[in-house]
Amino acid sequence: MRVHEAILKRRSIRLFEQKEISKKKLEKLIEAARVAPSSSNLQPLEYILVNEKKLISKVFFTLAWAGYVAPKRNPPEGKRPVAYIVVLVNKEIREKSYERDLGASVENILLSAVEEGIGSCWIGSIKKKKLRSILNVPKNYLIDSVIALGYPAEEPLMEEMKNSTKYYLDNFNRLHVPKRKLQDILHWNKF
Ligand SMILES: Cc1cc2nc3c(=O)[nH]c(=O)nc-3n(C[C@H](O)[C@H](O)[C@H](O)COP(=O)(O)O)c2cc1C
Repeated sequence: MRVHEAILKRRSIRLFEQKEISKKKLEKLIEAARVAPSSSNLQPLEYILVNEKKLISKVFFTLAWAGYVAPKRNPPEGKRPVAYIVVLVNKEIREKSYERDLGASVENILLSAVEEGIGSCWIGSIKKKKLRSILNVPKNYLIDSVIALGYPAEEPLMEEMKNSTKYYLDNFNRLHVPKRKLQDILHWNKF
């Protein structure tokens, strides 16, 4: 798959098939994160891959889904993620200004997932204290975000924004994701 094709194809997926993702494929996602650009090449990010059944159900209850349409896109039982990547910041390497590194690393993960046919949702709304205790995350690590993973059981539709950037569900329970138009965000040469 070409990179640009993966970029256009990637959508946040919140309904998943209950099919396991192989360890090899999960590791390939972290490999994509590992080689992402990093400010001063300090590489403060580390990852927990969660795929044990008992743990994935506990992690699920620390996450909030699709605020604009909540609770309609909370994944029901039988459609929940089959794995998670928890994105950590090693505070001993860097406590501040890691956000750009993190964006680049996570996008590498999301695009590599598309290439493997895996759906993902980047989640920032997390009960972090609870998650820290479930996964034994030490104090010298920040929990930043969680990436939910699984083979997609929905096909959200990207469309040009009309009045609002809020995603919405249509009568067929399909998620529509408005994106601002190119001419509204691109400034050639001068503003
Ligand atoms: C930093 C960040 C945090 C996000 N947090 C959540 C979240 O907590 N829950 C959720 O369901 N989606 C979350 N999303 C996914 C966004 O809702 C989604 O990217 C947006 O609606 C655009 O849809 P798209 O990813 O299909 O282009 C997050 C996305 C980003 C970039």
